[in-house]
Amino acid sequence: MNILVTGGAGYIGSITTAELIRAGHAVIVLDNLSQGHAAAVHPDATFIQGDLSDHAILSWLFDAHPNIDSIMHFASHTLVGESMQHPLKYLRDNTVNAANLLEHATTHGVQRFILSSTANLFNTPRTIPIAEYEAIIPGSPYGESKFFIERMLHWFACTSGLRYACLRYFNAAGGTPERGEDHTPETHLIPLILQVALGQRPHITIFGNDYPTRDGTCIRDYIHVLDLAHAHMLALDHLDHLQSHAYNLGNGTGFTVLEVIEAARRITGHPIPTVVGPRRQGDPPTLVASSERIRQELGWNPRYPHLDDIIRSAWEWHRAHPHGYQSPWSPPPVPSTSSGK
Ligand code: UFG
Repeated sequence: MNILVTGGAGYIGSITTAELIRAGHAVIVLDNLSQGHAAAVHPDATFIQGDLSDHAILSWLFDAHPNIDSIMHFASHTLVGESMQHPLKYLRDNTVNAANLLEHATTHGVQRFILSSTANLFNTPRTIPIAEYEAIIPGSPYGESKFFIERMLHWFACTSGLRYACLRYFNAAGGTPERGEDHTPETHLIPLILQVALGQRPHITIFGNDYPTRDGTCIRDYIHVLDLAHAHMLALDHLDHLQSHAYNLGNGTGFTVLEVIEAARRITGHPIPTVVGPRRQGDPPTLVASSERIRQELGWNPRYPHLDDIIRSAWEWHRAHPHGYQSPWSPPPVPSTSSGK
């Protein structure tokens, strides 16, 4: 297939791109590099640097690549905490950018779409693990923006026959030998812990230890990024006859922040000092997925269900790339030949 991957220079998008190429698909990556890294884009992908707010680039892209038949939409602002500080960045940009993409895609006849959605749709679940029939109560402007995009897809399906799937990730983690998690600033738990183990930070701050959980810290369901990538490929394969449109993706086991730190101590051999700080706004106490639906309907079966294996793969990537995708040295700046005045 010819697949457009938005956000294909980012963490999950770049690893999914590499898996798609490995499976024989042709991939075009569109990424504005605001968070992603050109170095993360698989060399066999066609890379276009551009923003989804730019109608001219979208129009050009679909005109220049009339054979695109499917889209995987990863590009988005994705931070729960930041969305509580800057709600419009999420409520406006994420939704308008998705609308732009859908408008140009459907105008050009692209009828297959897979959305990166989120566990943040479920702020106060009545039942853990969380199944797809749980009431959707987004936990933050970020979650709300993804919910709105899910609804947009529903209405495009009703009105123009779009075939789509929404994959609701719980906590993506881990890496491959070539690609891993590298955000600036980094806000995610596992890479921050590993930066402590690398001696790049003095400690990890635990955001609240007074939650109603077994040790007072938040519980999350960590899922290997490769298992997410494979879920995308399965959804793509089955897109023409899907029984459902939304799939929750996790391993079904929750770990507290303290348990994740303890696992990282085991794997890295580093003491990883901790400091307890206040709660981070927007963090629900417990998010654990039931992924029965995708297992039953698509035969998804995670290859890396154990937290230790997930953290170990992240540790191997971080150890080999202590500065992320940035090269360990930077060439000296070229001296300016004119004053510019
Ligand atoms: N945490 C800390 N200290 C830190 C960073 C995180 O205690 O320095 C805690 C958080 O409070 C949370 C847990 O570690 O309880 C995981 O936090 P992350 O920032 O790693 O991930 P989030 O759960 O906030 O969010 C991630 C993705 C979202 C997605 C969500 C789904 O970033 O896009 O998982 O659960 F919606």
